[in-house]
Amino acid sequence: MKRFVFLLLITIVFTASHAQPSEANYDESRVPHYTLPDLLTCQDGTVVTSVREWERHRRPELLRQLADGEYGRTPKGRVRVSYDIVGQNAQALNGLATQQQVLFTFTGQGRQVKALALVYIPNQRSGRVPVFIGYNFPGNHAITDDPEVRFSPFFERLPDKDSALERTRGMSRWPLSMILERGYAVVTMCYNDIYPDNADGAPQSILSLFPANTDGEARWQALGAWAWGSSRIADWVCRQSWADAHKLILIGHSRQGKAALWAGAQDTRFEVVISNESGCGGAALSKREFGERVGRITSSFPHWFCPAFSQYAGREQQLPFDQHQLLALIAPRHLYVASAEGDQWSDPRGEYLGAYHASPAYALYGLRGLTSSDMPALHQPIHNHVAYHIRAGRHDVTDYDWQRYLDYCDHAFGIGLSPRPHL
Ligand code: GCU
Repeated sequence: MKRFVFLLLITIVFTASHAQPSEANYDESRVPHYTLPDLLTCQDGTVVTSVREWERHRRPELLRQLADGEYGRTPKGRVRVSYDIVGQNAQALNGLATQQQVLFTFTGQGRQVKALALVYIPNQRSGRVPVFIGYNFPGNHAITDDPEVRFSPFFERLPDKDSALERTRGMSRWPLSMILERGYAVVTMCYNDIYPDNADGAPQSILSLFPANTDGEARWQALGAWAWGSSRIADWVCRQSWADAHKLILIGHSRQGKAALWAGAQDTRFEVVISNESGCGGAALSKREFGERVGRITSSFPHWFCPAFSQYAGREQQLPFDQHQLLALIAPRHLYVASAEGDQWSDPRGEYLGAYHASPAYALYGLRGLTSSDMPALHQPIHNHVAYHIRAGRHDVTDYDWQRYLDYCDHAFGIGLSPRPHL
């Protein structure tokens, strides 16, 4: 049993590096001719030319379309949340940071779901700090070798788990010191706490706290739930005296990149939204039919999108929307899309073009998006208001990626333009 639990945990730790099936198209010359739905043309044919029309008419229309056809509708009802500090260390990471562990208890329909946030706040600070918010895959204990970090509540139901879990401590580390030394706080949580990532996860997820869902084919599932959870983390962060509520950065990798984009589209408190290799159902244009496709993603992961999305399996050209429209909903806030050359499954060119075709929404605000349909070369980041980079290597979030994100956020927030008081 111990061996089984250990193998299960290793699978969870490395869940972000799936094998890529050979039947997918990786040949650019086989990308079909496609026409993207026009970003600025409303369903009634009106063409948007102003911020006012965009915000009043087109933006809500696109939000509805994406909810009904792809991610599911986020219920309006609220669940109760309470917060308990269950761990605290003012001298974590060799004194660099204050670490807190905050247990969120969500209550609804007579049930409870618990989720554990792991928080690092830079000790050298004068005033409020910008905050990275992002889920981890393998559990809080796996992203750091800090022995005080507790196991995420998701793991509580595994039998005989403790020793097996202990062996995965620190196995999938985040560069916490690098981020904290740059003056940013970090708040992370295991995404499985919010919705266990499997086809039978719904009853244990936060979905079970809401009244019976009547949205039919447009009902939300895991991606909608993860997006909702990011907003609940933001609720807590915004109440903290050390946090700058105007400088919230939402970061997500892969399936969490998809969830981050959907969260950023709905919740305008996220001032920067970072999609790291989010691929199909994230930043990549579906109509390119390159790498992972709608049919494959909706059959491998039937619990991610709303059921309506699967009707476009093998019918991407019939989609009434595409992913550039999701990215455009982040405007006028900061958007960063990043790819890896070795991650063709996520379609780097499709991710770049998604951001490029979102740029007209930024232009309405007089902001510079991506100005050329040609992708930049490897390791040549573009840091306009919409940012993009592609690096060598495989599907992952590397130090190279984090350094670019930190540079971009410094720039977005005007950090480093004058000497930083706390350094
Ligand atoms: C699989 C899946 C992708 C997803 C990735 C991940 O590869 O097909 O859509 O982005 O897992 O989340 O790691």
